[in-house]
Amino acid sequence: MNITLNPQSFYHKQNLPAQKPSFTSNYQTIGKLRPHCTYFFRDDLEWGCFARYLNLHFKDADRVNIYNAACSDGTEPFTLIMSLLKVNGKEKSEKFFPIEAFDLNTRLVKKAKTGEIHFLPGLYGVIDFLNLKFRTLFGDTRFLSYKKQKHGGLGVKMNDDVRRMVNFRVGNVISKVRNIEGENTVFLCRNMWMYLTEAERIKLAQNLGQNLKKGSLVVIGGYDYRCTKARQLLLKNGFEETYVDKVYEKMV
Ligand SMILES: C[S@@+](CC[C@H](N)C(=O)[O-])C[C@H]1O[C@@H](n2cnc3c(N)ncnc32)[C@H](O)[C@@H]1O
Repeated sequence: MNITLNPQSFYHKQNLPAQKPSFTSNYQTIGKLRPHCTYFFRDDLEWGCFARYLNLHFKDADRVNIYNAACSDGTEPFTLIMSLLKVNGKEKSEKFFPIEAFDLNTRLVKKAKTGEIHFLPGLYGVIDFLNLKFRTLFGDTRFLSYKKQKHGGLGVKMNDDVRRMVNFRVGNVISKVRNIEGENTVFLCRNMWMYLTEAERIKLAQNLGQNLKKGSLVVIGGYDYRCTKARQLLLKNGFEETYVDKVYEKMV
């Protein structure tokens, strides 16, 4: 299977090597190719629309449990927090926090906890900066401050109150998903299915199908949608598409 990781492909333009049967997971293979890139408001999800949908979908819930698997350096949960606060306001967003975020990579989790994120070099850094400005309608400094990094590039430091809205831990999605609480749950597992073997992907979808209760949501990423059978596996395990692209609802 050939997957090109874009836009992080500026780091590695080559396609990924075929999966070696001896690997229990594709993690090591892809890990060698510097896979952990992510960026604010990653454009394979319509963040504003998703935040609005969460508010409507869970309008009767007192508490919503959001799990962010494969959270990388924290960019993704911080994007979700900013989207929820900007679209729905603080009061209506409170039931979504704290978000439980985890990643297999200890170094990234340590970094995420600091709330400091450096922009990708070159054009991608500019896009990150502009995204933060436009997607928050120039309300970005409500959530973060800009900071010059040690190596000279630009980065951000998330404000303390935003950092407190997410708990970061080290964790493997395969084991974590066995213990999740199923009611009023949102499970983001985006752009990480390609790290799993076929057997692990099947197990993940089955566990999500078994553990999540009716009305809970699973969110996948653009790569999962295009390069793996994540969508088909979710549909096979009791989920249906919603009107937000790449967001699936547990139906029974
Ligand atoms: C390309 S990044 C995706 C980051 C973010 N979710 C996004 O969509 O932008 C993939 C992340 O998945 C993590 N990962 C890979 N396999 C994992 C597993 N089994 N459990 C938890 N995290 C995993 C990697 O460490 C990496 O940080």
